[in-house]
Amino acid sequence: MATVTYSKATRIYPGTERPAVDHLDLEIGDGEFLVLVGPSGCGKSTSLRMLAGLEDVDEGTISIDSRDVTHLPPKARDIAMVFQNYALYPHMTVYENMAFALKLRKTSKAEIDRRVKEAAGLLQLEEYLNRKPKALSGGQRQRVAMGRAIVREPQVFLMDEPLSNLDAKLRVQTRSQIATLQANLGITTVYVTHDQTEAMTMGHRVAVMLDGVLQQVDTPRALYDAPANVFVAGFIGSPAMNIKTVQLTEQGAAFAEMVLPLTRQQVATAHADGGNGKVTVGFRPEDTDIVGASEGGMPIVVELVEDLGADANVYGHAAIGGASERFVVRTDRRHMPNMGDTVFIKPRSEHHHAFHAVSGSRI
Ligand SMILES: Nc1ncnc2c1ncn2[C@@H]1O[C@H](COP(=O)(O)OP(=O)(O)OP(=O)(O)O)[C@@H](O)[C@H]1O
Ligand SMILES: [Mg+2]
Repeated sequence: MATVTYSKATRIYPGTERPAVDHLDLEIGDGEFLVLVGPSGCGKSTSLRMLAGLEDVDEGTISIDSRDVTHLPPKARDIAMVFQNYALYPHMTVYENMAFALKLRKTSKAEIDRRVKEAAGLLQLEEYLNRKPKALSGGQRQRVAMGRAIVREPQVFLMDEPLSNLDAKLRVQTRSQIATLQANLGITTVYVTHDQTEAMTMGHRVAVMLDGVLQQVDTPRALYDAPANVFVAGFIGSPAMNIKTVQLTEQGAAFAEMVLPLTRQQVATAHADGGNGKVTVGFRPEDTDIVGASEGGMPIVVELVEDLGADANVYGHAAIGGASERFVVRTDRRHMPNMGDTVFIKPRSEHHHAFHAVSGSRI
C-alpha cells in the first residue's frame, strides 16, 4: 500500500525548450485509482514514466509514501507497469511470462506457483497457462500483461493505455474488469488514457492535462459539474459542451434571442482582467431542451440528426453576432426534428457554465 506524490515534477527532453511535463503537483492516495487523461502529446506517458523511473526528472521530486524516489532506478521503486503493446515474451508460455520477473528475483518455485495461479484465477486465465501468446486473443494477451504485473505484488500499478489494442466492445468489458480487479486488490494505480469515457468510468479521480500542464484533478462528477476552465469543459463529455464567447450584458451572456443569466459577481469577474465586454459560456447537449417558439429559446437550423436509438443528437447552426455558430442538443426520440427545421433550444436553468473570455478560467 502506498501514496504517490509528484511535487513540481518537470521533464524537459534534451534538445527541446518546452517542458513535456511542467511543474506537476499531484497527490495520489493509498489504494486510489487515478486516471491521467488528455490529448495526444500532453505529457501523460512522460508523467507515468517519470514515476516508473524510465524518464529523468529535471526539476522537482517524486515520492512513494515518504520515500523520495526521484533518482532511484526503476527496480528499486516497487512498481509494476502494463504497457500498451503488452510486450509479452513470444517464446514463453503464459505461465512463464507471468513467472519471469519473480524468477529473476529468485523467488522460490512454490511461491511463484502460488502467485501465478492466484493471478490466473483472478484473470480467468487458468486454462491458457500452457499456451504461447500467439495462440491467445487480444483480450487474453491483455490479461496476461495484467497478470505479469499482479504477481509482482507491487506497491503501485502503472498502466499506459492498456486497452488501446482491443476492439471497442472488448475495451468496454475489460475496463470494468480492470476497475473491479483494482478495487479488490486495493493497489494504488495510475492509469493513462486519452479516452475521456474510459477516464470518467474507471477513475476515482481524474487528472486532466494539456501541453504538459495539469488543468484539474477531481472526481469524475466534479469535473463534469464544475470544469475549472474552457479546456476541461470541452474535453469532458460527449458530444462536447457547446462553448461560445458572446457579448456580456448586466443580465448575463447574450446569445441572439436568449440571455443566459449570470450573477452580479460573475458579471463583475467577466469584466475584470481585460474581459472586454465578452464572456465565454458553455452548456452541455444533455442539459439543453428543444422548447416552444415563445419560451425564450434560441432558434437553430437543424443540419444533422444522429439517431442513437434511445435518444438523438441534433446538430444545427444559429447566427450570433454576424457569424454562424454550431450547436448540438441531446433530445429524446419523440422530439426528433428533421433536417432543415428551425427549432428553439434552451439550456436548463442553472445548467450553464461561465468562463472568463480571455483566461478561460471558470467564473
Ligand atoms: N524522447 C523524447 N524526446 C523528445 N521529446 C519527446 C520524447 N518523448 C516524448 N516527447 C514529447 O513530449 C511530449 C509529451 O509526450 P508524451 O509521450 O508524454 O505524450 P502523451 O500524452 O503520452 O501522448 P499520447 O496520447 O500520444 O501517447 C510530446 O510533445 C512529445 O513529442
Ligand atoms: Mg502516451
